[in-house]
Amino acid sequence: MTTRRSCAVGTGAYLPERVVTNDELAKRIDTSDEWITSRTGIRQRYIAADGELTSDLGIAAARRALDDASMTGSDIDLLVVATSTPDETFPATATVIQKALGMTRGAAFDVQAVCSGFVYALATADNFIKAGQAETALVVGAETFSRILDWTDRTTCVLFGDGAGAMVLRAEDGAGTTADRGILSTHLHADGRYHDMLYVDGGPSSTGSAGYLRMQGREVFRHGVEKMAAVVEEALEATGLPAEQIDWFIPHQANKRIIDGTSRKLGLGPERVVMTIDRHANTSAASIPLAVAEAAADGRIQAGQLVVLEALGGGLTWGSAILRW
Ligand code: UT7
Repeated sequence: MTTRRSCAVGTGAYLPERVVTNDELAKRIDTSDEWITSRTGIRQRYIAADGELTSDLGIAAARRALDDASMTGSDIDLLVVATSTPDETFPATATVIQKALGMTRGAAFDVQAVCSGFVYALATADNFIKAGQAETALVVGAETFSRILDWTDRTTCVLFGDGAGAMVLRAEDGAGTTADRGILSTHLHADGRYHDMLYVDGGPSSTGSAGYLRMQGREVFRHGVEKMAAVVEEALEATGLPAEQIDWFIPHQANKRIIDGTSRKLGLGPERVVMTIDRHANTSAASIPLAVAEAAADGRIQAGQLVVLEALGGGLTWGSAILRW
């Protein structure tokens, strides 16, 4: 008997041109490079240009992922875009990206799970593939968080950046062991009781305007370390893989201290952790595919290696995915 798996066959990333350093922010608000670096690990962030939309970032990352997979838009039959900063309330940003890629068949929709968005979108695409409803899927994480930041609130505006990453998945049939390539597991969680910890104070049905991000940072931090380690342990148990076998741990990039705390809990040394927070800051749903694309492009991730993704975000939502590359 064969088992159907979703295999990563291409990755791509895109960052806007404009870099904003901590020092530049310190000229506008009461903060310092020292505070931001020591509390978060962030040194700079990329900010989209005026008129540069989430779809523009997503299209650029998606094109690179398709090139990497030697595919075109017409080879794709499912497009899932993870974003909390869509171009418009509707239609889905996925349909804007779909049009630009020349993809005219299949389904395209957005998934909204804030910083966990890419893991949610990946799990969605994986389930479509495993159910036989799609052969090839393009999963994009794209965000312009700069548009929903209160630039007078130093407790949040220094933390985020804009960007996009993408991954092409293709169905492959194999023996179904953990040594075979493809997505080995996905685990998703949500707990809406924690809404007030991280939310945007606006929206089409409440205020009628987009609103601004609000966060109880210390509380989110506490849940971050605890839940991110737990959701990876849950995935390792489900797959029967020991933590020592993880080649690359690629967590959502929200805070270097959260990443360090989580990897320490899992017994993973820094040499096995992909870190982009220093340059990208927190790009929400784009942070994981940006980091994966970077580590794949520079040759760190090799065929056959075990890659573990995990994230926590507004909702609260959290989740993990294990892939054999
Ligand atoms: O992406 C998904 C979810 N997001 C996260 O995972 C973020 C999780 N949380 C965090 O990363 C951290 O909690 C923060 C980076 C947001 C804050 O770090 P912290 O060590 O928890 O700082 P804090 O909130 O306890 O604030 C410490 C002090 C406060 O001053 P007082 O009350 O001690 O006088 C803040 O007012 O730091 C002050 N502060 C700042 N100072 C300079 C807060 N923001 C800034 C700032 N510059 N930008």
